[in-house]
Amino acid sequence: MRKPIIAGNWKMNKTPAEAVELVKGLIPLVKDAKCDVVVCPTAVCLPAVAEVIKGTNIKLGAQNVHFAEKGAYTGELSADMLKAVGCEYVIVGHSERRQYFGETDKTVNLRATAAVKAGLTAIICVGEMKDERVDGYTDIIVAYQTKMALKGLTAEELNHVVIAYEPVWAIGTGLTATDEQANETIGVIRKAIAEVYGDDVAQKVRIQYGGSMKGSNVKGLMAQPEIDGGLIGGASLKAEDFAQVVNF
Ligand code: 13P
Repeated sequence: MRKPIIAGNWKMNKTPAEAVELVKGLIPLVKDAKCDVVVCPTAVCLPAVAEVIKGTNIKLGAQNVHFAEKGAYTGELSADMLKAVGCEYVIVGHSERRQYFGETDKTVNLRATAAVKAGLTAIICVGEMKDERVDGYTDIIVAYQTKMALKGLTAEELNHVVIAYEPVWAIGTGLTATDEQANETIGVIRKAIAEVYGDDVAQKVRIQYGGSMKGSNVKGLMAQPEIDGGLIGGASLKAEDFAQVVNF
């Protein structure tokens, strides 16, 4: 019922020339994908990658967006700017932004709202830290982050939201949540959405897993009923690796 979506978060990797090379390699490998395919290069690579993926089934996403339309926000990019260079998606509230750049539930909500109102689809990241899982707070944390991120958005606007459940301890560590852990926590996120918007709306929202997802573990994760795709870091930086995930 929910079409899977696999997105590559390239993080701070690849020059424009390298990004073009990667995506050119990817195009033939994912052309028959049954899921939505998104790549999220750095901002400087967006125009070049947009040009190469024209007419293909690969969609473009950015890694962050500011909430103002324009103004004195040095270093930031508006939703309209991202749209102008061909973005349809934008990642919001990645744990690296929360950890290293002072992103809060409030700013995640502002950024997600700006993205959605401008017509982008926001891939909103939520996830617990290692000690939060050990202490038994995972469900509370992910439910709270989800509700705060979506605050003020209408049920209609949730058509333009994807949630990415990324346990922070699984990102870039080689540690993956077990299929069951990921499925269970994504179920908690869906329940949190249902508490605000009702079950019909919650059943339509796509929720990805992210955290050391790769060719060798994608099948097990994607076989879980709650998991609707993946947000892929390391394994999105080589065409063959990412294609293995996409063609799960
Ligand atoms: P890795 O796949 O490298 O663990 O990164 C996951 C991630 O943070 C995607 O946004």
